[in-house]
Amino acid sequence: MSPWPGQALQLALEPLVPGFSVAVLDEVDSTNSELMRRARAGRLEPVLLVAEQQTAGRGRLGRQWQSNAGESLTFSLGLPLAPRDWSGLSLAVGVSLAQSLHPAIGLKWPNDLWFDMRKLGGILIETASTGEGREPSRYAVIGVGINIAERPASGLSTAPAFLREMFPDIDAAQTLARIAEPLVRTVQAFEHSGFSAFRARFDARDVLRDRAVVLSDGTAGTAHGTTEGGALLVHTAAGMVPVTSSEVSVRPAA
Ligand code: BTN
Repeated sequence: MSPWPGQALQLALEPLVPGFSVAVLDEVDSTNSELMRRARAGRLEPVLLVAEQQTAGRGRLGRQWQSNAGESLTFSLGLPLAPRDWSGLSLAVGVSLAQSLHPAIGLKWPNDLWFDMRKLGGILIETASTGEGREPSRYAVIGVGINIAERPASGLSTAPAFLREMFPDIDAAQTLARIAEPLVRTVQAFEHSGFSAFRARFDARDVLRDRAVVLSDGTAGTAHGTTEGGALLVHTAAGMVPVTSSEVSVRPAA
């Protein structure tokens, strides 16, 4: 495997984010959990934390995120952020990752990277108080997991997608080198301009658009893109409903 691009990234990103550092751990329970623990202990420095192996990787809605060393890229970007409106951040992050990787990568609202109608990666965003009392300034932890190598379906209805379907020789370190700097620039642009700057690019990769979907409460409908605030518009029997990520998960109807 290629060496991790820690030093090169630190050099490239320090001018954008003063005090920025990159760290690679052999093993940790979860890079998100680790940065949230640090933030709660008052450590609010900007950092990109990579783990070769996570022993308790987490996904959205309390799900597990399973990955093996060398077979996936798992990292979290932690930094203080003060956007006027936080809604749509995971969508903007998805746009950045997809754009840095491949034109054929789609985005499944609100936080999945898809390829060939299968999940390629996921995003888990959490925030902690900065203790400054100056809301909306918070410490954001942006966790990213991307499958690099083929994995068995193990319990899933379809085997996940993996990046080597598009780039047969790529590894986790090379993947990080492609996505890290654009990701930091995206987060800064989001802080400044919010989701509106990303909406058209999200919609262009939206894999749910015009598809039948089922909300987690059982409501059926058709997905119709996003609102300015990043909610998913679903046309249901009750009319057009904006769905926010905290309420539901969405899957294409069978
Ligand atoms: C999802 O698909 O629900 C989100 C998956 C996010 C996984 C990444 S891997 C790095 C970071 N640490 C975690 O425990 N989760 C995120």
